[in-house]
Amino acid sequence: MTDLVEFSRDGQVFCATLARTEKKNALNGAMYQALVDGFAQAGRDETVGVVLLRGRDGVFTAGNDIADFLALGGSAETSPGSLFIRALAAFEKPLVAAVEGPAIGIGTTLCFHCDLVYAAPGARFQMPFVNLGLVPEAGSSLLAPQRFGYARAAEFLMLAESFDAALAHELGLVNAVVAADQLYEHALDRAQALAAKPRDALLATRRLLRGDPAILKARMDEEMRLFGEAVRSPQARTAFAAFMQKPKG
Ligand code: COA
Repeated sequence: MTDLVEFSRDGQVFCATLARTEKKNALNGAMYQALVDGFAQAGRDETVGVVLLRGRDGVFTAGNDIADFLALGGSAETSPGSLFIRALAAFEKPLVAAVEGPAIGIGTTLCFHCDLVYAAPGARFQMPFVNLGLVPEAGSSLLAPQRFGYARAAEFLMLAESFDAALAHELGLVNAVVAADQLYEHALDRAQALAAKPRDALLATRRLLRGDPAILKARMDEEMRLFGEAVRSPQARTAFAAFMQKPKG
């Protein structure tokens, strides 16, 4: 149990709020596990129509906790982060995200799995895996080029360039850029609009839009295999240690 992810209900919308503000909502094992459990509960509960993800205090998430990468024992494929990625990709109900501030690593890649993404003007997306000696995760090596085209995907996954809310909107990762003080209400309103649709037709439409899940699963398997090797490499461990030691603020 952790209080670093808060769950709440608003009608048929189940909301998960990342609440580890002092660490920029970096996701640790307990938070991933809470999200996996939350998704399972939301999936089972017939009164839940949609799940909405957001971060507390103007930050979506700084991505995986880098200290956890350094400490990773056992198989990366069964790590809490990997279990979360599997649960995210397999989740059948619509997902909506409200993104403010940094959305780094899994903070960006989870948006590929969301049906609707709303971002505040100050949102900043980045997939800096290669800078850390890592490889893309959560199917992003497949989903980024599908969504953006190869050239942009190479900028984001190979050069690891960050991009703002306006570009994310232009490229189709984000549905709309919404003022920060209206972001949550807007995302909630759209989530409730989705939840009000005929459920079976909505879920079938979602499945059709996503295509063959086996293709995504095969890519995620390969990413996880490579990630599991990379995360233990000397290159990656040096990059993690450099982040943990650098003066912050
Ligand atoms: N893992 C672990 N701790 C993290 C973290 C992460 N991914 N992101 C931020 N933190 C911690 C910092 O270590 C710092 O802790 P401290 O106060 O105990 O020193 C605290 O959160 C605040 O972060 P800081 O870097 O001082 O905030 P900032 O506003 O200057 O920068 C970010 C914010 C998000 C740009 C920056 O923290 C960052 O680049 N984080 C790492 C992102 C990343 O590479 N994620 C992994 C992707 S695979």
